[in-house]
Amino acid sequence: RQLLASRPPLSPSSSSSAADAGADEAPLHRIVAYARVVRSHRNVTFISLADGSLPGNETLQGVYRSSSSSSSLPDHQQLAPGVGLELTGRLKPSRGRGQAYELDIEHLKVTAPVDAATYPIPLTSSSTPASNDLLRKYAHLRPREARHAAVLRARSAFEKAISDWFWDAGFSRVAAPILTSSDCEGGGEVFRVEQDQGEEAGPTTPFFSSATPAFLTVSSQLHLEALAMGLGRVWTCGPSFRAEGSATNRHLCEFWMIEAEQLTSSSGPAALHEVMQTTQGVVQAAMHFALHHEQTRKDLEMLWQGHEATLQELESVASSSSGPWPTMTYTDAVSLLESEGRQLDEPPPAWGQSLSSSHERWLAQHVASGPLFITDYPSGLKPFYMRANENQGPEERRTVACFDLVVPRLGELVGGSLREERLDRLEAQPAALDWYAKDLRRYGCIPHGGFGLGLERLVGWLTNTDNLRDVASFPRTKGPLRY
Ligand code: 4AD
Repeated sequence: RQLLASRPPLSPSSSSSAADAGADEAPLHRIVAYARVVRSHRNVTFISLADGSLPGNETLQGVYRSSSSSSSLPDHQQLAPGVGLELTGRLKPSRGRGQAYELDIEHLKVTAPVDAATYPIPLTSSSTPASNDLLRKYAHLRPREARHAAVLRARSAFEKAISDWFWDAGFSRVAAPILTSSDCEGGGEVFRVEQDQGEEAGPTTPFFSSATPAFLTVSSQLHLEALAMGLGRVWTCGPSFRAEGSATNRHLCEFWMIEAEQLTSSSGPAALHEVMQTTQGVVQAAMHFALHHEQTRKDLEMLWQGHEATLQELESVASSSSGPWPTMTYTDAVSLLESEGRQLDEPPPAWGQSLSSSHERWLAQHVASGPLFITDYPSGLKPFYMRANENQGPEERRTVACFDLVVPRLGELVGGSLREERLDRLEAQPAALDWYAKDLRRYGCIPHGGFGLGLERLVGWLTNTDNLRDVASFPRTKGPLRY
């Protein structure tokens, strides 16, 4: 945070006192940064300095005057954009537009040269940003790009806000295992871990046991449920792995999920509502903090440039005075899609079928103009652990007490449900799940529920980044693994 820390507060009173004091009395700062843009005139060179601590496109303007600097200026080739520098100088009120201060450089040394002829990303000007496709090819160089850095800083802000919100709401943060023995979602999209220990242990000796396969976790939910029985309210944030075959811009093979589990104090729809309230609280906390934190706000303003109206919409969604977000059942959602003539969609809406992402986006936009909870999906569409709704009609119209939170422009952001706590409803599970389906249920299972929120989806939604490959710093998708 050096550039930021070295800058005095940008208030008019401090700027005039700095001016009164005169340049010589301003303290000497030592700064490590890289050059973004270098502009040379006859006796003066302007270098915009960045070190990732300033929000948006902001840089600290360094001014090198050959008359007042003690070191000689490296030649033009050495001073290419992207070069790492060590500088000393004094901060002075700036006459330049859009900046309160500049660094009057006294001494400058190139500490990290750049091979400008082969550097693959244009760094020189924010008005000609590199394309997302190009940047994806260079994920190891991409964090230097202002937009990607802003997305990563925003993610950090969301995580801080979510963590604080959970703490204040009495949730304990717990750690769930990454290596697991089951496919929580039952979708079959698990990555199996190779258990062969290699030649030394003998090629046929599995590390854990031949009876238990090992997988990378697809969700921490089952473990969180066990922990919730001891701690009441728990949450975690960790990586989830899914062997997603489809290459959509909303699916990664490795993504981070915020998951929470809580005991519920009511029953029926009111219990589901308790879990939806937690979901809303978490999402709003992330939005509210980011929009009101000075630096993160500047990052968001840069990311939403040209779409100011959407940023304003997000602001009203973040406000707790907006009340509970709208809710509608899956059955009503399908009827609405049908009555609105969406049958020509591919696939068309039909009871018993998943809602497509475009249906979800349409519903969020047209029903709620913002986040919308869609509840009570057909049991055939959802995993085994969701609680069956009571007073059901015929077998084929059975539903479960669950919700998806869908939002404009993205579609599904969160999936949650009440968990089936009745032993007799869960007994037909594989023996490997006895600890979950039997023990947790027969030794005192307080009704409970929870949800999972895809962190990259949240970040993409709030930072105007459509493709999750541009949110994850080293995205994992099907195909060669470069990093
Ligand atoms: O709806 P999902 O599959 O729910 C679960 O895994 C539950 N066991 C979570 C729980 O209740 N504790 O996934 C939850 C969320 C989705 O709404 C989505 O935001 C995100 O995780 N998600 C993905 N994000 C990126 N890439 C993928 N392949 C994702 N799959 C799910």
